[in-house]
Amino acid sequence: MKFLVMNGVNLNLTGKREQSVYGTQTLEQINEKISAFCERNGDEVSFYQSNIEGELVNKLHEAFLSRSCDAVIFNAGAFTHYSYALRDAIASIDIPVAEVHMSNVHAREPFRKTSVLSEVCKGVVCGFGANSYIAAIVAFKA
Ligand code: DQA
Repeated sequence: MKFLVMNGVNLNLTGKREQSVYGTQTLEQINEKISAFCERNGDEVSFYQSNIEGELVNKLHEAFLSRSCDAVIFNAGAFTHYSYALRDAIASIDIPVAEVHMSNVHAREPFRKTSVLSEVCKGVVCGFGANSYIAAIVAFKA
């Protein structure tokens, strides 16, 4: 399969920010781990990160219009909790999207329990650190 792993706002600081919540692995290290996992399984993967909501919308449109992947693994960061633009973009495309979070958003502040994306995603994985991304990939392949 071809996967697109997308990360949204503030995820570029993974490994450097709030290490007690998100761990010490950088996004680059996490992406390398995902790459190695996909390579072992004969899958292709590409990565995209942006702090800008519209750029994430554009990337979803591009994936849809160019048919460049079979599934999207998406950690939208805080956009998860309020971005109707990303929700509509996910609803607009026929590529399945998995919502992913490294932390267990249900065990944190109340505002994190709300996701405006979940309803239009294929499924949700949270709480397994960097392995949340891998778990979503495995789920798509099962
Ligand atoms: C996050 C959880 C979000 O609530 C938060 O805003 C993030 C990261 C996670 O991976 O646990 O930036 O998506």
